[in-house]
Amino acid sequence: MKETVVSGIRSTGKLHLGNYYGALSNFVKMQNDYNCFFFIADLHSLTTHPTPGDLSRTVRQVVMEYLAAGIDPEKSTIYIQSDVPEVAELYLYMNMNAYLGELERAAAFKDKVRDNPDNVNAGLVTYPVLMACDILIHHATKVPVGKDQEQHLEMTRTFGNRFNRLYNVDYFKEAFAFSYSDKLVKIPGLDGNGKMGKSNGDASCIYLSDTPEVIRKKVMRAVSDSGPTEMNQPKPESIQNLFDLMSIVSTPDTVEHFNELYNKCEIRYGDFKKQLAEDMVLATEPVRSRIEAISADEEYVQKVIRIGAEKAGESARKTLKEVREIIGIKKLY
Ligand code: TYM
Repeated sequence: MKETVVSGIRSTGKLHLGNYYGALSNFVKMQNDYNCFFFIADLHSLTTHPTPGDLSRTVRQVVMEYLAAGIDPEKSTIYIQSDVPEVAELYLYMNMNAYLGELERAAAFKDKVRDNPDNVNAGLVTYPVLMACDILIHHATKVPVGKDQEQHLEMTRTFGNRFNRLYNVDYFKEAFAFSYSDKLVKIPGLDGNGKMGKSNGDASCIYLSDTPEVIRKKVMRAVSDSGPTEMNQPKPESIQNLFDLMSIVSTPDTVEHFNELYNKCEIRYGDFKKQLAEDMVLATEPVRSRIEAISADEEYVQKVIRIGAEKAGESARKTLKEVREIIGIKKLY
């Protein structure tokens, strides 16, 4: 039997290079060898209170971008989290064995509290429980995600193992973060520090749907400095980030070329950024053109969503039936 893979992306808007290189690109490669489920985490995105119109628009956008990025609905199951209500039921059960102390210690939760102190809702604190349910509901063992999700995977194992111990069963499997490269990636943003992410602002992100003009503009405006003044000087974070981005979209020769110029204090950031922008345009071109083609085919998108809901629902219903039995929830009439 093939191992199962699950991964998801919140429906907070367009997908960026961090989502692509952190999760999607690995997932696309896994489709041939594993039983794959890829979903849009619209319930998770409710933690930030999107308006109803924005929610449905972004969910549809993310489905199209998944397809454009190469997720093949013939090989994988693509679905929307809220189309599978069993996930929400499992979340209720698993919340009974998740402790406030451990949830409050999660790094992603602490970041959210720091960034949005006025919206520390219960959904936010139990975010890792819902995420664990996404994974456990299909008995997945591999989860292609970026570095930022590693702790959530550890919590998923904790919750699954705790359930097994509590009910004295060997039911949930352990799932591990997965990447084809030797380590999980963190794609930096263009704003000089931290990771590429919507919460760091649009200027920090290159979206898969950005036009070449927009990509060029954003890269040219990326934070840099006045340049090295000593030979072989260590790179400050903002410059290292741009080099890291280049190593993802450019050839090793190109990276080496600019590295040498940097080390000799001969680098001109204008040329460096121009090259980076052109390589980003090239790297995103196939996805960008497919997004346009797919968005014109409403019937196809709807069919993918419907079939995905059926396939994911079937897997989820089987798990919930078994979980209810294990917990002792029975119909008494
Ligand atoms: P989200 O939408 O924040 O991120 C989706 C995926 O993109 C990866 N990612 C990055 N990887 C590398 N560098 C970056 N700058 C970067 N930014 C985002 C994330 O690691 C993630 O893989 N909580 C999940 C959504 C989710 C999920 C799940 C994932 C809900 N349930 C079950 C896997 C399995 C998240 O972070 O979404």
